[in-house]
Amino acid sequence: MTRPKILLTRPWPDAAEKWISERFDVTINTSGAPLTPDELKAAMRDYDGICPTVTDKFDAGVLGTPDARVQIIANFGVGFEHIDLAAAKAAGIVVANTPDVLTDATADIALLLMLMTSRRASEGERQVRAHGWRGWGTTHMMGQSLQGKTLGLFGFGRIAQATAHRAKAALGMTIAYASRSRATPEVEARFEARYVDGLDALAAQSDVLSLHCPGGAETRHLVNARLLGLMKPTAILINTARGSVIDEGDLAQALKDRVIWAAGLDVYEREPAVHPDLLGLDNAVLLPHLGSATVETRAEMGLRAAANIDAFFRGEAPRDRIA
Ligand code: DGY
Repeated sequence: MTRPKILLTRPWPDAAEKWISERFDVTINTSGAPLTPDELKAAMRDYDGICPTVTDKFDAGVLGTPDARVQIIANFGVGFEHIDLAAAKAAGIVVANTPDVLTDATADIALLLMLMTSRRASEGERQVRAHGWRGWGTTHMMGQSLQGKTLGLFGFGRIAQATAHRAKAALGMTIAYASRSRATPEVEARFEARYVDGLDALAAQSDVLSLHCPGGAETRHLVNARLLGLMKPTAILINTARGSVIDEGDLAQALKDRVIWAAGLDVYEREPAVHPDLLGLDNAVLLPHLGSATVETRAEMGLRAAANIDAFFRGEAPRDRIA
C-alpha cells in the first residue's frame, strides 16, 4: 500500500522527523526557508498532508488551490492565525495544532521578559560588553521590584495561567485578568485571580500587562497609543502572543516618551522584521520568537503534529483538530 505523502515545511527535531518518516512518505524542506505562496499552492496539489509552521500563510487563495490533494494541515505550533480556518473548512481540509506541549516553555519566556524588563537585564549586559560599566554604585541601573505588584493577563488560557502560576509562586505577584469569557470560580481561586471587565480597565490597573490573546483581525493593534496612555508610567508590557496585537510604532513612541516604563517582546507583526524605532530603545527587551524554543518542547511539538497526521490517516479524529 502506498503511504500518504506528507510535507514538513521546515526541518524538525530528529526524534520527530524519525517518527513521522517511519510511517509516511515524508518530504522535508531542508533549506528551512519559508515557502512562497506559489510553493504552498504546489504543495497543496502534491501532498496528502502538510505540516506547516507560523511562517506559512494558508489564506483562502492557497487553500482554494484547484485540484488540491491535501486532506489535512497539521500545524507545528499552537497559534493558527496563519491558517484561514473557514477557507479550510470550505475546502474540506482538516486542520490541527499542537496545544499543551509548549505551555510551560512559553510561560517561562513571559517570566523571563518580566524579569529582564523590570531589572534592566539587556541594558546592563550591553553596558558591560561595551566596557561602559564604571563599577558598583548605590543608584546604578536601578530596576523595579515585582513583589506584590499586579500582573494583568489579557486572555486567560493555558499559557496565561502557567504565567500566573509562575509570577505568583516565584515573584509574589497578584493576578488580575480580562478575557472573552470569565474563568470558573475554581480556576480563579487557584491563582487568587481577580476578573477585570475589559482591556482598558486591566491596562490601567496592571503593573505588568502580559498579552495572551490570539492574533487576527479581532485583536489587531488593540495595544495602541490610546491604550498605552491608560497605563501607569511605571508599567511594563509583555508580549509572547502575537505581534499584530501591538501597534509597534505607537509602542516605540510610548517607550521613548516614557508613557510606560518598559516592554518585553518575543513576537512582532512582520517577523523577522522588527519596527526600526524599537531597536534603539534601552527600555525595550527584544527576543526572536523564542517562546517554544527548547529542545524538549520542539521535539514534543513535532511528535504531536505527527500524531495528528497519524490519527487522521488511520481514520481517527486527530486529537488536536481545530477545523
Ligand atoms: C506557536 O506555537 O504558536 C508559537 O508561537 C510558534 O509558532
